[in-house]
Amino acid sequence: MIKPVSYRRKLAGKSNAHLIAFDDGRDYVVKFLQTGFEKSLPNEWVAYCLARYLGLPVPFARLVEIPENFAAMIPDSNQFTLTQFQFASLYVPDCLDGHQVKNVAGIVNAEMLAGIILLDYWLGNRDRTRKNILLQEDTKDSYYLWIIDHAEILGSYNWEISGLEKLPIGLRKSAAQKLMAVFVENEDAFFEHLESIQTIPIFLIEEIVSTIPDDWMVTDEEKKAMVTMLLKRRKKVLPKLLPRFIKNVYRPLH
Ligand SMILES: Nc1ncnc2c1ncn2[C@@H]1O[C@H](COP(=O)(O)OP(=O)(O)O)[C@@H](O)[C@H]1O
Ligand SMILES: [Mg+2]
Repeated sequence: MIKPVSYRRKLAGKSNAHLIAFDDGRDYVVKFLQTGFEKSLPNEWVAYCLARYLGLPVPFARLVEIPENFAAMIPDSNQFTLTQFQFASLYVPDCLDGHQVKNVAGIVNAEMLAGIILLDYWLGNRDRTRKNILLQEDTKDSYYLWIIDHAEILGSYNWEISGLEKLPIGLRKSAAQKLMAVFVENEDAFFEHLESIQTIPIFLIEEIVSTIPDDWMVTDEEKKAMVTMLLKRRKKVLPKLLPRFIKNVYRPLH
């Protein structure tokens, strides 16, 4: 397992994320378990694994161990619950977020955008703001688009089973979503990505959920509810939502 070697800085945002250099020579954005935000790390981990499986542009991530003496040097570490594992996302340098870029002429990985929009609806991600899209310049005004921050899937960073029943099933207004939808060339892409989501083996979804570290304190019942919700939403919610999205959001932009 990689080890932290030096602390760099705190990153802006409510998650209290910290940039830390590790002994593999790379920097990672590390998130810790925090009271009141109990589902942030499980959400990040499950969303990351699913996005990665689907080939969506999420920065490489892994579970890391931050030893107690290292954690003690981190500002605001009194807000953490120090668990054995933390969530670490490989830092993508030289990015701007969706607010900072005024003129996007093209997205290099445009073929992935329909998949991101569907992933967000599938997972009930309420936090796909322009800040949670990173744009890495490729050629002038043309960017590779990365997605980050899946702490608020399943409706919240501290969801409970009863809340999962009430996840939104309708269209979301989102500037980030529009920014992406503009660059989806053909609406068939949405149906192709829907098919990818619907054919992820159930066994794999269960396996991913089962790898949530024990001390992140997600109960077996909650893990089961997560899987049930993911299966239900991909089968029942997405197929109804997609035609409405195409009619009300996608087509008016094209
Ligand atoms: N993998 C990454 N590469 C580069 N910057 C990142 C990465 N992950 C997070 N960041 C930066 O850190 C900020 C906070 O991280 P984020 O996951 O969005 O947490 P939150 O918004 O919940 O505090 C982001 O807005 C972004 O600027
Ligand atoms: Mg964020």
